[in-house]
Amino acid sequence: MSKSLVSISDFNKEEILHIMDKAAEFEADPNRPVLAGKVIATLFFEPSTRTRLSFESAINRLGGRVIGFSEANNTSVSKGETLHDTIKMVSNYSDLIVMRHYIEGAARYASEVSSVPIINAGDGSNQHPSQTLLDLYSIKKTQGTLNDIHIVIVGDLKYGRTVHSLLQAMSHFNARFTFVAPDELSLPDEYKLFLRGIGIQYKETQDIKEALADADILYMTRVQRERFSDLMEYERVKNAYILRNSMLEGTKENMRILHPLPRVNEIHPDVDTNEKAYYFTQARNGVFTRMAIISYLLGIE
Ligand code: CP
Repeated sequence: MSKSLVSISDFNKEEILHIMDKAAEFEADPNRPVLAGKVIATLFFEPSTRTRLSFESAINRLGGRVIGFSEANNTSVSKGETLHDTIKMVSNYSDLIVMRHYIEGAARYASEVSSVPIINAGDGSNQHPSQTLLDLYSIKKTQGTLNDIHIVIVGDLKYGRTVHSLLQAMSHFNARFTFVAPDELSLPDEYKLFLRGIGIQYKETQDIKEALADADILYMTRVQRERFSDLMEYERVKNAYILRNSMLEGTKENMRILHPLPRVNEIHPDVDTNEKAYYFTQARNGVFTRMAIISYLLGIE
């Protein structure tokens, strides 16, 4: 069976570091036709701007071709075709499949059905491993290392798939975490157990100002309306944490603010011009990181 990237745990520490090196090479020289003759499918059962377009940009820059859809209602899924059959068909037509799906575990299932590699571009609240690799690339570029970083994560730690993948990846590098979330959106116990089990330090607080004082990376997240079954609960917590420029006084000189984006209200636009705001460059880093992931999974050096 071909190697897929469904969970960040599908890559070991050496593979993660290899992707970091390759992403840097692609950033230095992004237009290399190593995917000439390859067809990559992008199947998005959930909305996306960055993930789909940065994958497609990466493929185009590498000389590959893209097929796929951004709206499953225009496909035979709307006639009742199963995910099983859709993946069987698309793996006949492509060399690799990038898939986002709203059901947790859908990408793992697809990888078991597919004859070509699957990249999980987000499955419900579960995992978003290509986002994590671009997050790590952004951390390495801004901090000069992945080792011994203090990451403050703010917002939706319950449903945030980028948070779940990030914890697992940074645990290879002796990260220390501070979690800032309302009770309703606190980190699920399974992830706390995971961190405790491998001896990674973390603390939980609702005081963002206190957490920021010692942060190397501030990782903001959106409260995701689409994950709530009770919209009253969403309304209660949606503006729990809003980062403003004035809150960055006294933070470390080299602290950088990441956000997987899209943002809604959680970062005030007055932060955008602060040199610590890194989220737009972080999204750009996604192109180079995704070039590295695709070429690695296809065995292209
Ligand atoms: N970060 C991220 O996954 O953004 P999109 O939902 O726009 O792809």
